[in-house]
Order: sequence, then structure tokens, then C-alpha cells
Amino acid sequence: MEELRQKYLTAIADAADEAALEQIRITALGKKGEVSLKMRELGRMSPEERKIAGPALNALKNELNAALAAKKAALADAALDARLRAEWLDVTLPARPRRQGTVHPISQVTEEVIAIFAEMGFAVAEGPQIETDWYNFDALNIPPHHPARQEFDTFYMHREEGDERPPHVLRTHTSPVQIRAMEQQGAPIRIIAPGRVYRSDYDQTHTPMFHQVEGLAIDKGISMANLKWVLEEFCRAFFEVEEVELRFRASHFPFTEPSAEVDLRCSWQDGQLKVGEGDDWMEILGSGMVHPKVLAAAGVDPAEWQGFAFGIGIDRLAMLKYGIPDLRAFFDSDLRWLSHYGFAALDVPTMRAGLSR
Ligand code: PHE
Repeated sequence: MEELRQKYLTAIADAADEAALEQIRITALGKKGEVSLKMRELGRMSPEERKIAGPALNALKNELNAALAAKKAALADAALDARLRAEWLDVTLPARPRRQGTVHPISQVTEEVIAIFAEMGFAVAEGPQIETDWYNFDALNIPPHHPARQEFDTFYMHREEGDERPPHVLRTHTSPVQIRAMEQQGAPIRIIAPGRVYRSDYDQTHTPMFHQVEGLAIDKGISMANLKWVLEEFCRAFFEVEEVELRFRASHFPFTEPSAEVDLRCSWQDGQLKVGEGDDWMEILGSGMVHPKVLAAAGVDPAEWQGFAFGIGIDRLAMLKYGIPDLRAFFDSDLRWLSHYGFAALDVPTMRAGLSR
């Protein structure tokens, strides 16, 4: 009995894995196991012999079972330790920068513009890119056959043969959002509306799809002086310089009276575009005092309310600020261009942390 005990305890201690352990259990305690066969021999013993051998065999059986269970637990612990060692990871190591994707300059500049106007109390409004004739033109005091409709190089949507309604258009400017916002919120109101606009035009500074941000401030006693201050303040913040030179040119828009176009002093040297110096001017926005007919069309009483509106070309701003000479490249999706001019995903512009670094 003592021999059996030594043999199996040693075998259990030496077992390398659970399968070996199970083999030992079967050999010792299985139906035809060595210990089980010994127990069967009890029947042929005399009662005296049985009294001694019986409890001793039972004790052996219990001891081996306990040793098997303990070894099994130890093997499981060792397996877990090995796995933990293999899967160990140093989370204090710096992450590897991937630099696969970048934020497009248009997205970045749009965020910069929003951050600046948010500081001045303007909320963001939006409208559809496929617009009705009414919102894009009529409500903005551009009736059918008005010459201004030609100037916009409008893309018209298709109408079924025989459908006489005026076709929808791809909005030619963000100004229809003025109407939609006033209809929804009434006056007083202070919003900007950034987004895509469309005109059939294509050269170094024009693409058929481009971006504008509309501004609208309606209240009591708003004047052209407020408009001028807001635009100058915006340009200083946007270009991150003390002085930028703006040129207000008297102009005409059907939806503003009086109207002004604003140009920014810049230079083009060896294909490089710089702002604030040189003898060139780049037109960046149209503006003016909102026409009483436009207020009335949006359900705002022009006898009580007045204000200004402007429409800035976002793409032009991006070209000027980041020295990008050709607008067409913006929308080519060339990965080399994107990784050169793009922004890291976490460079979120704010007025406090700085718009760009
Ligand atoms: N909608 C005009 C354009 O696209 C710009 C503008 C907006 C002018 C608001 C005056 C007021 O040219």
C-alpha cells in the first residue's frame, strides 16, 4: 500500500499537464485502476484483515484524489501565469503616430470661422443644398427674369416633361438660409450659415462647388457701422494679425441696400499667396443692410427690425490664410496634397487655444 502511495504521489507531482494527470487518475482510481482492483480484493479477505485494509485503502483513495485536485489547480494557475506573461503590454509606451488621415483645410477653416463668430454671439444655422427657386431667388428679392439670375450661373435640377413648376436649383449662395432662419426664429436673430454652394464656373479661383458662410444679424438700431466692425474683427481674428487691410467697395445685391463687396490686400509672388501685403486685392465677401423686402418675405416686420448680412467665401479664406494658390486642387482628393495641407485630427481651433499653430 505504501508503495502504491509513493508511486502515485510522485507521478502526480511530476505530471506535466492536465492530460497526464487524467491518465494517472484512470490508472490508479479508474474502474480497472490499481487502487480500485485492490478494493475489490477486500471481499476475499478475512474480516480481521478487512478491518485494517479497508480504511487504509479508503484513506489512500482520498489522499490520491486530494493530490489530483491540488495538482490540477496548480497546473491551471501556471497556465494562467504563462498567458499573462505572454499577453503583457506596456501601456506606458508612447503611441505610434499614424498620420494616415488629415482634416481638410476647408473643414478646418469652417471650424475656425465658427469659433470666431461664436465668440461674437452668432449661432450656426443650416439649410438644404438643393433649394427651391423661392428661397434661392424670389424671397431674396430676385424675381423671375431679374438679370441677377443670370449672374449666378445656376445649376437647375431636372423636371419631368410637362411639369411647369419652376425647377429646384443647387443653391448658388448660402443666402436662402437667411430666409429659412428668420422664418423659424423670427427677430432678433444672430446666425451664421456655413455650407456648400454651386455655380457653373471653373478656373484657378473658381470651382463649380465651393463654400460660403452667411452671416445675419437682425435687431433694433443695427447699422452699417456694426457690419464693418464685425467684419474687421473677424478678419483680424481669422488671419491672426493685428492689422489686415480691407477695402469696402460700393456694390449691388438685390437682397441688400446699401451693399458692399470687401476685398483683402494680398500678394501673389512666384505662385505664393500672402495676405496683408502686396498690390493685389482678393474679393472675399459680399455684404450689406438686409433689404426690407427680404425681411418681409421671411415674415419679419421691416418697420420694426433691421440688420446686416454678409456672405464670405470660405475657400478663398483658406487659400489666403494657408497660402494655397490653386482652388481646384482642394477637391482633387490627391493624398499628397491632403497630407501636405491637411490638419491633424486633434488640432481643434478655439479662440482660447489659438485658431492655428
Ligand atoms: N449671396 C451673395 C453672393 O453669393 C453674398 C452676399 C450675402 C451679399 C449677404 C450680401 C449679403 O455673392
